[in-house]
Amino acid sequence: MDYRTVLAEVAEAAGPVASSGKVADYIPALARADPGAFGFALCDITDGGRVEGVGEWQARFSIQSVSKVFTLALVLAADGDALWQRVGKEPSGSPFNSLAQLERDQGVPRNPFVNAGALVVTDRLQTLTGDASGTLRDFLRAETGDHTIDFDRHVAASERRHGHRNAALAHLLADHGRLVNPVRTVLHHYTRQCSLTMTCQTLALAAAFLARHGLRADTTRLLTRSEAKRINAVMLVGGTYDSAGEFAHRVGLPAKSGVGGGIIAVIPGRCSLCTWGPALDGHGNSVAGTAALDAFTTLTGWSVF
Ligand code: DON
Repeated sequence: MDYRTVLAEVAEAAGPVASSGKVADYIPALARADPGAFGFALCDITDGGRVEGVGEWQARFSIQSVSKVFTLALVLAADGDALWQRVGKEPSGSPFNSLAQLERDQGVPRNPFVNAGALVVTDRLQTLTGDASGTLRDFLRAETGDHTIDFDRHVAASERRHGHRNAALAHLLADHGRLVNPVRTVLHHYTRQCSLTMTCQTLALAAAFLARHGLRADTTRLLTRSEAKRINAVMLVGGTYDSAGEFAHRVGLPAKSGVGGGIIAVIPGRCSLCTWGPALDGHGNSVAGTAALDAFTTLTGWSVF
């Protein structure tokens, strides 16, 4: 595969569309991002994990909800199927921070990628490790070999100050008896995990265990093949929230987005991808990133379908 030609065409497809989106500003620290920025990277697991990229693929951005994939993997690695007693695996069809849906579902989040589900996953990781966000950071450093990966204190503080809706979700979970740790501990680790800054290059590397059916960068097993399959499946139905159907229709890959503009995607057995463009659509997914992944799967013919 001549990646250079494909990546140049991917960048060309993504370029013009960013202006139709809007940078997230409900976390004020994110509003400073350049809406026109764009990067794309792929990690080819059939070629020793070689990473190729285009645009600003080595620029750092806030990973936000992309972090939810990695906390889920760490909890499944420790607990196996027990987590699914506490969190569903259905598409949400609702905004990622819906209070009404959580209330209707008696405090059982639809899936681990809506904010309520991710709070439950972080709660469990905190119980398992005593330092949920630190454990996540160390995992990401190990998978990528980049020991500079760290939290952005400014972004975390900004989210803590303005994150009334997540606080409400956490209190609602606690009211239904769904959290083990104190609400403030769970919110602290959740906002820290979201504030991690990474690049398309390092996120593509970090997500490669999902392309390798559960094997880590050092070839040890993190997840069983079934667990890796399950994460990919839940990403397909819930990784891009209430536009998961539209996203699957266009891109045809399991993916997870974040309001920092990042999206990771997986082609099992072949490669992991990460793209970044801070301007978002109305569902919180990167406009340029979605266009880039659409172009990539169309040009290569690689998809899970
Ligand atoms: O909890 C929040 O609202 C943010 N820290 C993360 C949300 C997010 O990235 C949703 N993704 N598209």
